[in-house]
Amino acid sequence: MIGAMTGKFITFEGGDGAGKSTQIRRLAAALAATGRKVRQTREPGGTPAAEAVRHLILSGNAKSMGSDGEAVLFAAARADHVEKVIRPALEREEWVLCDRFADSTRVYQGAGGGADDKLLRALERVAVGESRPDLTIILDVPAAVGLERARRRQVEEATAPADRFEAEELSLQEKRRQAFLDIAGGEPDRCVVVDANQSEDEVAHAVWKTVSTRLFGEAAA
Ligand code: TYD
Repeated sequence: MIGAMTGKFITFEGGDGAGKSTQIRRLAAALAATGRKVRQTREPGGTPAAEAVRHLILSGNAKSMGSDGEAVLFAAARADHVEKVIRPALEREEWVLCDRFADSTRVYQGAGGGADDKLLRALERVAVGESRPDLTIILDVPAAVGLERARRRQVEEATAPADRFEAEELSLQEKRRQAFLDIAGGEPDRCVVVDANQSEDEVAHAVWKTVSTRLFGEAAA
């Protein structure tokens, strides 16, 4: 957290079907009910340029660039998002809730995609800088549960076939799950793992408890 910033920056991470968007919606409503100003956003995306990058990547057209190339695209989108949306919102004392952030690059392009570690660290330094999350909530579900939820959602929303990420394999999903857990283990001050293999209400309760314990003490109530 730098200088005059007094808002809070919370990111949600996890594999496919972890329930991030539902939980972000619920947390946003709960925070708003306490009178806090809340800004919901997502990655890749959040600005017109970053949404264009999102379209390019999720369409599968950037796949030929490989994991390093994708990481560069995600980082470019992230830098724009941080500069134009996240940092200004924090300066306005808003609570920023972001669906995926830099840990997704570490996990999807790094651990899961084999992107170069030094490159990833350099990109993160440039794209994120001092705007690191105050709290990262990792929603953890077994790979098979997450994939099954994601598939069900696609059928319900008639969005199948899946984007190219969700079409990938169970073992890859398990690898990513472990990578998120490793990040949490390495940065316990920033990250909290929440068991997302429970009912929506139970997960929401755990998320609320985490946010209030970790962040309400140091913010104006
Ligand atoms: P999205 O439809 O938003 O999926 P989800 O609901 O799982 O967040 O698509 C985002 C996809 O982009 C998702 O499969 C993860 C991937 N991704 C990366 O590979 N690297 C990144 O840095 C980010 C932010 C996302």
